[in-house]
Amino acid sequence: MKNKPINLSSLRGKIVAIDGPAGSGKSTTSKLIAARLGYTYLDTGAMYRALTYYALKNNIPFSDGVKLSKLAQILPILFKTSADVNRVFLNGNDVTDEIRLPEVTKNASEVAAHKGVRLAMVKKQQDFGKEGSIVAEGRDTTTVVFPNADVKIYLNASVEQRAQRRLLDLMKMGVTTTLKELQDDIKKRDHKDTSREHSPLTKAKDAILVDTTSMTLEGQVDYIVNIIRSMLK
Ligand code: DC
Repeated sequence: MKNKPINLSSLRGKIVAIDGPAGSGKSTTSKLIAARLGYTYLDTGAMYRALTYYALKNNIPFSDGVKLSKLAQILPILFKTSADVNRVFLNGNDVTDEIRLPEVTKNASEVAAHKGVRLAMVKKQQDFGKEGSIVAEGRDTTTVVFPNADVKIYLNASVEQRAQRRLLDLMKMGVTTTLKELQDDIKKRDHKDTSREHSPLTKAKDAILVDTTSMTLEGQVDYIVNIIRSMLK
């Protein structure tokens, strides 16, 4: 029962926005929530990652805001969700796995900090959400991309727990690293994401804080789906 999509007409066309720091479980949680609601899932971080990957492949400095902003406007980034896999296409090429590489993860914050890059990405994200029935997740979906979202959630978890989750994900991908390295990396990314000049990560006043440190994935999905149901009924 719990895993069936919820077909309530009151849910149709609504926007659910979920923000939070790296490793708070946003992506997996949002994907599962979208499936339960019968909504489209929008991973805004994947768009910044795709641009970072393009820069990496084409030797474009991550500091070149002018060039990256132009690219952000013209590079076609598409999503195709089948079963529970959200595939990301850049210029027609499937880059789903490549955009998760540590080299991309490490540099995406710098790319995402350029004002022009953000303006172009936010516009694309708002276009994706025009029809509603969407779960969007990222760092500024509750504050900048969809400030009028029907439900806003801010997910958080301790640095230790977030690093532990990241370690398991990377191990599945065959990437070797240490917990300490990941904790340091997460702290650095938190600092960059929360202190940047344009659209820093922050909890919107009207977002509901959900701390997932001691929640299981299934537990947090149930918890948030219940919040959404109670807010949209
Ligand atoms: O959520 P993620 O780790 O896939 O995000 C990748 C990078 O993009 C991360 O450095 C933060 C940035 N980002 C952002 O600035 N704004 C968003 N809405 C989503 C992600």
